[in-house]
Amino acid sequence: MFDVDEIRKDFPILQTKMNGKPLVYLDSAATSQKPIQVIQAIVDYYKTFNANIHRGIYAISEKATEAYTESKEKVAKFINAGSYRNIVYYRSTTEAINIVARSWGEQNLKQGDHVLITEMEHHSNMVPWQMLARRKGVVLDYVKLKGSAYIDMDDLNEKLSLKPKLVAFTHVSNVLGTINDAKQITKMAHEEGATVLIDGAQSVPHMPIDVKSIDCDFLAFSGHKMLGPAGIGVLYGKEDILEKMEPVLGGGDMIRTVSFYSCSWNELPWKFEAGTQNIEGGIGLGAAIDYLNKLGMNAVREHERKLTSYALKRLDEANVKVYGIKTDLDHKAGVISFNVEGIHAHDLAQIFDSEGIAIRSGHHCAMPLVNELLKEPAVARMSFYIYNKEEEVDKAIEAVEKARRLLLRKK
Ligand code: ALA
Repeated sequence: MFDVDEIRKDFPILQTKMNGKPLVYLDSAATSQKPIQVIQAIVDYYKTFNANIHRGIYAISEKATEAYTESKEKVAKFINAGSYRNIVYYRSTTEAINIVARSWGEQNLKQGDHVLITEMEHHSNMVPWQMLARRKGVVLDYVKLKGSAYIDMDDLNEKLSLKPKLVAFTHVSNVLGTINDAKQITKMAHEEGATVLIDGAQSVPHMPIDVKSIDCDFLAFSGHKMLGPAGIGVLYGKEDILEKMEPVLGGGDMIRTVSFYSCSWNELPWKFEAGTQNIEGGIGLGAAIDYLNKLGMNAVREHERKLTSYALKRLDEANVKVYGIKTDLDHKAGVISFNVEGIHAHDLAQIFDSEGIAIRSGHHCAMPLVNELLKEPAVARMSFYIYNKEEEVDKAIEAVEKARRLLLRKK
């Protein structure tokens, strides 16, 4: 049984108020809230076994090392990766993708090679490839969108015929909420010989993910969007690829041996983790995964699907313009971008704020999509997670009506 009221009791922030109103948090695509179990795991580490990892021959250091490594085992199991050796921690999805561009990209791409991404990418899966294009003369191609909602599979086919060395795409769009067919796109890309990177920032927290079944070469995602702390992000990579990749950062812990003029690398995944790591971040992420596993990711997805369906219906009844998919719920995550005619998204977000409702407004770090394709200076966005309820959607609709009353002149 997926009992939202019970779940909400685990989230201290959901008992607080914003601007004197009970907090309605509809911005989980930006960052999720944290259950007490995650907060407590971090507090326990600091209070009872705070020590550096891989360094101390004493009990609390060994305990910290074990907890950190165990968190990687949990991550690996969560996405059905082979082992913790496939799991590298960076600060965020963004950092993980940048590292792939710096390391794998520098090693494997040369001037004139093609990198294929899509028009629905977040800046984090666009700018690193633009930077690589500048550094190496790599050619960046984009798969077009169909109906401002889906990846155009015909265009994908056409662009794949240019034989890109890398295909990088978002599993779920942070603006449109579109769930892309990761397995199919990966298969098509592999058939043309491309390596595949998936931005899983908006998918891994919300649905079951199986990297073996999808068969992607890299998957990047963030802890803070899945109940965990900020500052911990995951790069999954296939072992043979990670083995061949050079580390970008050098320093403590990532080495096997160092002499004055040479060094050799530690084994996976540690060769990519230079210096003291975000130990509490790893431990907190492990606790977040325990929490999600208890709920079950199929149940998480089902809850969000129902809520999204309800919200789409209510927005439609309220005559609110919604971007992207409106009825095809199999391909729609709990992310809904919208605008109210005659009201700027930032003004709308301010009215929501006065009602205690947190939504995001702006270009959502996807400027080309929002500005050039949706042709909007900004859109408002509500996004859901395990703790959201239909009543909160109702409050959002009331806030829309309030905004109209306050901001639209009567003709
Ligand atoms: N990428 C996050 C978002 O879409 C921050 O809000």
